Amino acid sequence: MLKRKLGLFEINPLGLGCMGMSEFYGSVDDERSERVLHRALELSVDHFDTADMYGYGHNETLLGRVLNASGRRNCVVIATKCGIVRDRTDPTRRGIDNSPAYIRESCARSTDRLKTHIDLFYLHRITGYGERIEESMSAIADLLAAGAIAGVGLSEANAATIGRAHRELLRLSHGRHGLSAVQTQYSLMSRDIERNGVLAICRELGIAVVAYSPIGRGLLGGALRSTDDLDEKDFRRTLPRFSKEAIVANSRFATSLDNVAQRLGLSASELAIAWVLHQGQNVLAIPGTTQLKNLERNVAARDIALTADTLQTLDALVQQTPTQGARYPTEVMSAYGLNR
Ligand code: ATR
Repeated sequence: MLKRKLGLFEINPLGLGCMGMSEFYGSVDDERSERVLHRALELSVDHFDTADMYGYGHNETLLGRVLNASGRRNCVVIATKCGIVRDRTDPTRRGIDNSPAYIRESCARSTDRLKTHIDLFYLHRITGYGERIEESMSAIADLLAAGAIAGVGLSEANAATIGRAHRELLRLSHGRHGLSAVQTQYSLMSRDIERNGVLAICRELGIAVVAYSPIGRGLLGGALRSTDDLDEKDFRRTLPRFSKEAIVANSRFATSLDNVAQRLGLSASELAIAWVLHQGQNVLAIPGTTQLKNLERNVAARDIALTADTLQTLDALVQQTPTQGARYPTEVMSAYGLNR
């Protein structure tokens, strides 16, 4: 598949989400993760997504160690994020800090853990409705000017904030930099960006949409049928979409998707990822996996061409079996300014 633009970079449309290598989705095993990262490089994956908060820095350290030792560091894009403040004594507690001082300090800490430069630096979540985004962009513009980061993104921002951040960055950098990317949950099960203006403004402003959870946090892979399939500490247990009732209903959609996939000689996860990559030339996907077999399947999805008929069939399927449960609890959506 042809490469796509991610700001200054031209890369493969399918990257690797590394979050699960540190926490959130059950057990973690560094050796296994390292094998997955090495295999990803062999398969020409050139976009690795991490964040300072994944495993309280563990994820950045792991990724930096493997990529720096691979000899391929300069052939890949490393994207990291800052702004979610966690409490080690209570992993479920979250705050958001987008202040200039916090952004500057976070960038320095991430660079230190990665032991390499940052290609793409996201604000992980945005405070309120983005009222103070200009202040954050001033710190970001300084980091760009100093060469500490090569590109800028927002993760889970609303359309108005995206527009304001992009314009402010262009103003501060005298037209040299706007936003390179907006990262957001996007899959057959999470299509809100098609309705809330995020997809439209990214297209209009030439910003890449980086789709996380393209497999619906595993639901579209077909193996999750009940909360019993999740580890006791699995973070998905806190999400409405994975409640006892919702997961059963949502797994019915996964079964229908699998039926369509089988008729095409594909797996459900391949079809789910390929669908995301068919949503526009500015859309990239970063499915997450900790398993070699799943990585190989996911990477295969970048070469799948879907017909207009198949895309219509999938739209009809979504209409017939609407997703049950929101992607985050209501209070979290409000805290992130995503409920307008
Ligand atoms: P996220 O972006 O949040 O990581 P995702 O990419 O939609 O979400 O899905 C990740 C989940 O799907 C993980 O639980 C992953 O499990 P493994 O680490 O065991 O692979 C699972 N997953 C990834 N690829 C898969 C595939 N090809 N088939 C089934 N499940 C898969």
